[in-house]
Amino acid sequence: MTEQKYAVSEYPDTVKVYARLNNLLKQPIRPVRRERMQVYLDYFDIQCARSKVLNNEARKFIPGGVQHNLAFNYPFPIAIEKADGAYLWDVDGNRYIDFLQAGGPTVLGSNYAPVRDRVIEMLQTCGPVIGLFHEYELKLAQLINRFMPSVEMFRMLGSGTEGVMAAIRGARAFTKKKKIIKVGGAYHGWSDSMVYGLHVPGTGRMEARGIPFGATVNTQEFFPNALGALRAKLIFNRLLGGTAAVIVEPIGPESGTRPVPFDFNRQVRELCDEFGALLIFDEVVTGFRLGMGGAQGYFGVKPDLTVFGKCITGGYPMAGGVGGRAEVILRFAAGIGGTGERAYIGGTLSANPLSCAAGYYALLEMERTNAPVLAGKAGDRLTSGLQAIIDKHGLPFVAFNQGSIVHLETSGVMLLDLHNPFKLARELKPRRHMMEEMGAAYMANGLITLAGSRMYTSMADTDAVIDEALNKFEGVLASVEDQ
Ligand SMILES: Cc1ncc(COP(=O)(O)O)c(C=O)c1O
Repeated sequence: MTEQKYAVSEYPDTVKVYARLNNLLKQPIRPVRRERMQVYLDYFDIQCARSKVLNNEARKFIPGGVQHNLAFNYPFPIAIEKADGAYLWDVDGNRYIDFLQAGGPTVLGSNYAPVRDRVIEMLQTCGPVIGLFHEYELKLAQLINRFMPSVEMFRMLGSGTEGVMAAIRGARAFTKKKKIIKVGGAYHGWSDSMVYGLHVPGTGRMEARGIPFGATVNTQEFFPNALGALRAKLIFNRLLGGTAAVIVEPIGPESGTRPVPFDFNRQVRELCDEFGALLIFDEVVTGFRLGMGGAQGYFGVKPDLTVFGKCITGGYPMAGGVGGRAEVILRFAAGIGGTGERAYIGGTLSANPLSCAAGYYALLEMERTNAPVLAGKAGDRLTSGLQAIIDKHGLPFVAFNQGSIVHLETSGVMLLDLHNPFKLARELKPRRHMMEEMGAAYMANGLITLAGSRMYTSMADTDAVIDEALNKFEGVLASVEDQ
């Protein structure tokens, strides 16, 4: 038997998944019963007293009292003191099973000692930053090229957002075209041109406060999986000077919350070839989480450019980069003086030795331990357990996964879109609030999820951890309102 190389043991049947999601969206919401929700909210006041004090103080100095978009702020954000493997501990000493995993970078589990030891070694010899070349830059670039041969050359940057900015700039410089097409609802970081059609497909500039029109005038979106609409945009753009690139999250918007049919990426590749646009894979989430070959290896589709983040440093700071065809990436040549051909990118701390060494050893460890596949197996166990709970209690909720990326839709808010603006206007708030409540209910039961609807599993999630989590999930899911 050949060894499993990718985290996805069975690709979700997207027709069935969408049928179940549409069914969920047709129904009234089923939040946690009010008296039960009060018990969960009381948990925060009683058990998280120090978090509350810290948060009240933080509100005076930090807007909203919290800095991370993925941090829960309902009823208030808890403060974390310790992270190890599958668990987090808050400042009041409460332990949680951690399915946020910092938003995805830690496939080995939190604070994995063999990588931490290498980072400490680097700190002791070189410190975190030098501003000159360090051998680990080369080692990391070579390693990425071994895992993803499409990445002929690589530039390390500070974040996924920066990687996307660079990819777009490089694509425009190379093709000499302007238009960038993204999928509605997809998240590609927060640069001016990408805060467009964010989270909710069809909403264009809805979130673009503070961003001038000119910054998004060359950004376009199409509804998820609507290849006909993509083709129409590509045809139309020919009249406007052409499309520089199509950028996709290869498993679908919001880390596969709206999953793509298996063949989607291949078809986008074909369209890009037909219209002379570059294909950018945003592998910030999938890069190495889906397997060492990334989504491009899993789907067998070769992008022109790949954006990295998260796993590229194994959870250590300054996680970002862009790689791909040498003739495009060569535009990013650094150093003093320009060639006139250069697409400008930079960053004082970009490609620092600490981030490069952390990434290099994290990726090697992931390969050695087969961490993406182990994390994927944990995701499978979690998903099938959740599905069993949903079936047992006759709930309309939907669980599915792409390996270690697990989706649990209870409110369906993530699936609303502008196809039905009245439904969106009527239901966005109550469905979003239900999702917030579910997140708080899980947390009061010792489970940390991403915004109450997504979970990242890691290699540290043994069967025992997953079974403990399922017990806790059952408590919450069994306490929702009857129809
Ligand atoms: C698919 C995708 N692209 C880009 C980004 C932005 O990366 P960063 O937060 O490192 O700027 C994210 C962040 O979650 C992401 O999920």
